[in-house]
Amino acid sequence: MTTSPATSRPAADATAAEDFLRTFHNRTPGLQSAGVEAARTPEGPTSYQVLAGHVAGARRVLDLGCADGALLELLAGQGAESLAGIDLSAGELALARRRPALAHADLREGRAQRLPFADASFDAVVSHMALMLMADVEQVAREAARVLVPGGKLAVTVGGGPVEGEAMELFLTLARPYFRAAPVERHMPRLGDRRCRTREGLDEILAPAGFAPVSWEPVTLDMGGTPAEVWESVTGVLYDMTVLDRDRTEELREEFIQSSAPLVTPEGRLPCGRRVVTVTAATGR
Ligand SMILES: C[S@@+](CC[C@H](N)C(=O)[O-])C[C@H]1O[C@@H](n2cnc3c(N)ncnc32)[C@H](O)[C@@H]1O
Repeated sequence: MTTSPATSRPAADATAAEDFLRTFHNRTPGLQSAGVEAARTPEGPTSYQVLAGHVAGARRVLDLGCADGALLELLAGQGAESLAGIDLSAGELALARRRPALAHADLREGRAQRLPFADASFDAVVSHMALMLMADVEQVAREAARVLVPGGKLAVTVGGGPVEGEAMELFLTLARPYFRAAPVERHMPRLGDRRCRTREGLDEILAPAGFAPVSWEPVTLDMGGTPAEVWESVTGVLYDMTVLDRDRTEELREEFIQSSAPLVTPEGRLPCGRRVVTVTAATGR
């Protein structure tokens, strides 16, 4: 899940943002992982698989914002022996606990800003599309560095925006005026720290916690399909859709289906790509 920059109001404090996230994920647990599993890189893997590849061989791994445990399950499958996850949402964690591969995982309801784990207890810390939503991200960085062994690895996936000229970009252009016009009381709190979406910003956040400069790997994900399928997948990854009532949502849907018609291929496929970035950084030895 992600958010469109222009449409949220500043959070009075971290609590408003976390309440919003907790409520959203408790209402729709599993939505994020279903969207991730459906979007592939040109070479075939999902963004979970790309991220997991960066911590192959790590024995003890912690997932910050683990939600329903889809990434942790993948890590279990690639041989990690000791897995842990933390998330704000009890509803997402309930799904994670149902996965047989996570029967022995240490899954906690809580905040990544205050990790209930011992110093130097993980070889790797991962976070997929979650770090960028977190308040006081410097504190999250300090906590990640604390629980990592010296030389341990932080590997995170953050949002990188739509592919130009395709359906997601068109959708955002059409949707922003709808989001802005929504009544103020429906607006969502601003989520996270925009610095998490740039290399320089992440270095600024991570370096004081003792991480080396980040490695930055942009990844393009294909979310194309029929126009109706693309509508479902694009609206499924945007928290901002919560600000629209049913009528406005239907209006936007019709406008999107009509406006995207010129992009549809003769085979009936609407191209739709989005970018994410896999970022890795090691702690000092
Ligand atoms: C977009 S979802 C990504 C979930 C999962 N990583 C995935 O990609 O399938 C963001 C998740 O981060 C969690 N989250 C956000 N802020 C958090 C925080 N400060 N501490 C723990 N979890 C948090 C939310 O509850 C939500 O489950």
